[in-house]
Amino acid sequence: NRSLVTIAEHSKEKILYMIEMAKQFEMNPNRRLLHDKVVATLFFEPSTRTRLSFETAANRLGARVIGFTDPKVTSSSKGETLKDTIMMVSSYADIIVMRHYLEGAARYAGEVAPVPVVNAGDGANQHPSQTMLDLYSIYKTQGTLENLNIYLVGDLKYGRTVHSLLMAMRHFNPTFHFIAPEELKMPEEYKLYCREYGIRYTEHTDFTEEVIADADILYMTRVQRERFTDLMEYERVKNVYILRNKMLENTRDNLRILHPLPRVNEIAYDVDNNPKAYYFQQAQNGLYAREAILCDVLGITLEDIKNETI
Ligand code: CP
Repeated sequence: NRSLVTIAEHSKEKILYMIEMAKQFEMNPNRRLLHDKVVATLFFEPSTRTRLSFETAANRLGARVIGFTDPKVTSSSKGETLKDTIMMVSSYADIIVMRHYLEGAARYAGEVAPVPVVNAGDGANQHPSQTMLDLYSIYKTQGTLENLNIYLVGDLKYGRTVHSLLMAMRHFNPTFHFIAPEELKMPEEYKLYCREYGIRYTEHTDFTEEVIADADILYMTRVQRERFTDLMEYERVKNVYILRNKMLENTRDNLRILHPLPRVNEIAYDVDNNPKAYYFQQAQNGLYAREAILCDVLGITLEDIKNETI
């Protein structure tokens, strides 16, 4: 089926096609293309943006939404397996959007479900719908995805959004700069991926004005408290980098600051009014990117959307 499990499966052409779809939805988000569909949102982990923007996307497309936000109120708390849950929900809904704490859960669900599954985040692994909205945000603010200097800052070990973004950008000749403390460095498997695909990268532990002087995109991330087994270690690294307005004074005019959100304290509040801050618009772009994803996994094409032929 047409599940979206990892963005790595998308070609360059497919990514650019999805951006064209998102543009259509930004021009007009209200199109009843899914008027006869039911979308299930199964969230085994907390979420604000991903769930609400998928549900808004479904509503604006005329679909109805079922789902849960707390697995404790479902039969998984009585011991029902993920497979049985997915099989049951597949018999009620046309698409399953699922966030799960286990890496690989979305791939497994996609394999057993007869309906498309959209990975809304699986542990520290991947977050492909976030990547689609990140790519759309980068494209809108830079006018291109090609040849950009992208700084990934913070928790690069557990941050699934940076893992997905790195994989998607392989088509666009980026230079990545990884800024993380030793404990939260980009995992070796993603550095290997960079080498395999010829993606340039540098690594830093210092987060200074000098280091980010040539940045086009500064992608801040939260330290992922929920992934730490040792909370003392979290306490040691939680405030390691804080972006303040002063650090942005000599940065490029085209620089835009992204963050998947939620933020804890890695971006000072005074940055919010800086014209280079783009994280709230980025989250809004999630609506358009997710309308595109819901349509695409059901086989609705860009032409269908332009012509509203459904
Ligand atoms: N960016 C993101 O995944 O946010 P939520 O956890 O609020 O869905």
